[in-house]
Amino acid sequence: LKLAVCVSGGGTNLQAIIDAIEAGRIHDTEISLVISNNPNAYALERAKKAGIEGICISPKSYENRDAFNAAFLEKLDAAKVDLVVLAGFLVVIPEIMIKKYRNRIINIHPSLIPSFCGTGYYGLKVHEGVLARGVKVTGATVHFVDEGTDTGPIILQKAVVVQQDDTPEVLQRRVMEEAEWQIMPQAIDLIARGKVSVVDGKVRIAE
Ligand code: GRF
Repeated sequence: LKLAVCVSGGGTNLQAIIDAIEAGRIHDTEISLVISNNPNAYALERAKKAGIEGICISPKSYENRDAFNAAFLEKLDAAKVDLVVLAGFLVVIPEIMIKKYRNRIINIHPSLIPSFCGTGYYGLKVHEGVLARGVKVTGATVHFVDEGTDTGPIILQKAVVVQQDDTPEVLQRRVMEEAEWQIMPQAIDLIARGKVSVVDGKVRIAE
C-alpha cells in the first residue's frame, strides 16, 4: 500500500506509522510522501530522518482556495498513492479530492465520534470539552473522510479512561499514547491486507 501522510504539527501519529512499518506491524506498505501545510512542522523533520520525501503546500501561497485545492489534488495525484492518511492535518480537504479518493482518505480524531467532534473540536479543544462535560471514558477514532467534518464511516475506535485530576494536556497525551498511536497503524494494516470494506455507509472488517 502506498501512503501519502498529511500533517500540520508534531507528527507523532506519522511517527507511529513509520515505527509500525519498521516493526512489521503494517504489511506491504510504504509512505511515499508527507505533505504539510506548515513549513515548521516537526513532522517534516521526522519524515526527513526516515528518508521520506516531504513537501509543503499551504492555502496562504495561493490567490484563492480553488487554486490551492487544484494544486493540492495535482500533487496528490502525481504521487500515485493508494491511501491518504490525515494525521493532525488542519486544512479542510477539498470536496473534489474527497470525491476522487472516496474511501481512500482516513483521519484520526482524538475522541469517540460522534462525541466531541465537528467544527471547533480540534486539538486540545476536544479534551477541554471532555473534561468540561465530565465524561468518564474518551478515546480516539479512525474513520474514512467524507464531505462532512468527522462524519465518515468509522474504521476503528479505542477507549481511554478519564482520570479525576486530568488536565487537557495530560489527557491529550494519554489518548495519543493509549489510543491514537495504536489504532492508526492498525487501521492502515487492515486496509493494506484488504480486510476493510464499506457497506451501507458502515465499515465491515473481514476476520
Ligand atoms: C493529535 O491530537 C490528533 O488526535 C489530532 O491532531 C493531533 C496530531 O498530533 N488529529 P501529531 O501531529 O500526530 O503529533
